[in-house]
Amino acid sequence: MKNTVRTFQAAKEEGRKISMLTAYDYSTAKLMDEAGIDAILVGDSLGNTMLGYEDTISVTMEDMIHHGAAVARGAKKTMVVVDMPFMSYQTSVYDALVNAGRLMKEGRAGAVKLEGGKSVCPQIKAITEAGIPVMAHLGLTPQSVNALGGNRVQGKSIEAAQNIVEDAIAVQEAGAFAAVLECIPAKLATLVTEKLSIPTIGIGAGNGCDGQVLVYQDMLGMFSDYIPKFAKKFADVGNVMKEAFKSYIKEVSEGTYPSEGHTFQIDDEVLGKLY
Ligand code: KIV
Repeated sequence: MKNTVRTFQAAKEEGRKISMLTAYDYSTAKLMDEAGIDAILVGDSLGNTMLGYEDTISVTMEDMIHHGAAVARGAKKTMVVVDMPFMSYQTSVYDALVNAGRLMKEGRAGAVKLEGGKSVCPQIKAITEAGIPVMAHLGLTPQSVNALGGNRVQGKSIEAAQNIVEDAIAVQEAGAFAAVLECIPAKLATLVTEKLSIPTIGIGAGNGCDGQVLVYQDMLGMFSDYIPKFAKKFADVGNVMKEAFKSYIKEVSEGTYPSEGHTFQIDDEVLGKLY
């Protein structure tokens, strides 16, 4: 059976931690699905990790639909959440509804995620009322990197922490089924988690959240432009890839690849008849 919003809610009620990773393509999604991940986020972080932008601002609806649909084809059981890119929902409730609909219809999402608290509650309400599950995203919201003055830890002052608590309650009341908490102090994330009846998914928010999400290139050591403090390297796939590329280059230059076993044959008789 496919994971849904009900899987998320049941996990919170049963105290079972939710595992989530980003993915942006079919093959990676299939591997994660086979490994038993609860949910995949087609994050707009694809702007950094797949497209080489320095932030997520330039990511388009077409990018998200293209990668979302590829991931959805590889995800048999896991739930696929697709990010709403910058300016696809901030402009109006109408735009948010139309674009969330496109991510479901064309991107084959199981849910959408958008960044922000009270200010985007009308959008969250309208999208959920249209039957589209919404995951909220609070704390460090990378689409607001220019307003925040950089990718920095959020919620450290009384006012900022209180705002995050109020935003969390507001997005829950607006209908969000879960909330990502990014780069906030662990004790604040735990407090928010205790106050909410919907699950929180942490990234750089300590282990008091109901689940965790990581960018997959970070946890596999495949992305070195910027390595956040919270990004544990679970395997050094980046170096494994580099070593494989070097072996390939060496064998090609030495002429040892392709060998007999990787080569198709033809009867000499056929060859002899050619002119
Ligand atoms: O785009 C993304 O990958 C995200 C995660 C960092 C939560 O939003």
